[in-house]
Amino acid sequence: QTGLVTLDSGYGNTAAYKSAITYLDGEEGILRYRGYPIEQLAEGSSFLETAYLLINGELPTGDELSAFQNEITQHTLLHEDVKRFYDGFPRDAHPMAMLSSVVSALSTFYQDSHNPFHENQRHLSTIRLLAKVPTIAAYAYKKSIGHPVVYPRNDLGYVENFLRMTFSVPAAEYELNPVVVDALDKLLILHADHEQNCSTSTVRLVGSSQANMFASISAGISALWGPLHGGANQSVLEMLEGIRNSGGDVDTFIRKVKNKEDGVKLMGFGHRVYKNFDPRAKIIKAHAHEVLAALGKSDELLDIALKLEEHALADDYFVERKLYPNVDFYTGLIYRAMGFPTEMFTVLFALGRLPGWIAQWHEMIKEPGSRIGRPRQIYTGVVQRDFVELEKR
Ligand code: SDX
Repeated sequence: QTGLVTLDSGYGNTAAYKSAITYLDGEEGILRYRGYPIEQLAEGSSFLETAYLLINGELPTGDELSAFQNEITQHTLLHEDVKRFYDGFPRDAHPMAMLSSVVSALSTFYQDSHNPFHENQRHLSTIRLLAKVPTIAAYAYKKSIGHPVVYPRNDLGYVENFLRMTFSVPAAEYELNPVVVDALDKLLILHADHEQNCSTSTVRLVGSSQANMFASISAGISALWGPLHGGANQSVLEMLEGIRNSGGDVDTFIRKVKNKEDGVKLMGFGHRVYKNFDPRAKIIKAHAHEVLAALGKSDELLDIALKLEEHALADDYFVERKLYPNVDFYTGLIYRAMGFPTEMFTVLFALGRLPGWIAQWHEMIKEPGSRIGRPRQIYTGVVQRDFVELEKR
């Protein structure tokens, strides 16, 4: 039985969901998708296989996985009228704004898959979103650099197709590097779900009104954009570049954070649930070294990040507040080494989180007696007073 329950968190009742999808233990740094440890999935699974697991609850057989992959492949192309939306965006539109807008606009094209209580329509919306979001993301990048879009191909895998649509140009095919493909596939697995985080709770709340899946996912994309959430991976790079540009003085930056000067935070650090290491950050940190080495790239920003981490982990201010690197601390360095601009980093987070949002939406809408989400409040305003006419004010 899943659904919204109230748990006594010691601060009065805190509304919480019951869910069977992802398990987090913030003290022990444990993350499991449908009971499988994230470390094992990152090592042995693929992103689409993990997406199948999150959405269907079980790992697929070979035939089930092939059918899932083939169905997604058949839906990767965007309707030419959807492509025309990009003509209306300004060149410097943020890709997250384009992503949330175009995903929401899909609901104007696929009215045959709106009914959340129709099994086949739910499945069709699921396939359409998993298939088209990489295309929408790649087209957003092309718009931001003034290049023509590159259409998806059916002979490529999910991550390969996305990389080719993003980085190929008419004059030159993008050369698929297996190291980049494998690293991005793993990063997408690590981002795939994270129980009731801000954007997932948004998807569930919007979906609980029985709005269609496209509208619910578009709301989740908007919530993820914030720098305190998925937007942190872009803010981490901007923070590291700021430290580099000021001469690499990590100590001065740490002091500013501790003095809370101008509200500056150590971006990529801290977490509402993990009060120990974010298990994803550990895996990603190892990959950062691997990918940079394999791409023959050194990155002075990685050196600054390692210095920041070393200083923070030895400083009581951060230790007392249980602030450790989270999923966003190292991802940007890898995405940058792959060739993505900082504005695309949160789009990559959304690409990874998509199957988790979809799985949680299904769980919410299929829950017996599913009810509209309706958080209550503690009223702190004036209790009551009488109206005063304008001339007497
Ligand atoms: C994601 O929920 C999820 O699961 C999210 C996510 C997912 O997969 O969906 O894991 C993805 O969003 C990761 C988080 C990415 N955001 C950042 O890296 C931004 C920087 N981090 C913070 O803003 C903060 O740590 C949060 C938002 C992540 C968590 O905030 P909390 O739990 O509300 O913590 P808090 O603000 O109550 O902080 C407690 C104390 C405060 O100090 P005091 O007022 O007690 O003196 O710690 C301080 C905060 O000022 N603090 C930080 C800090 N994070 C918290 N100080 C400096 N730098 C930081 N990053």
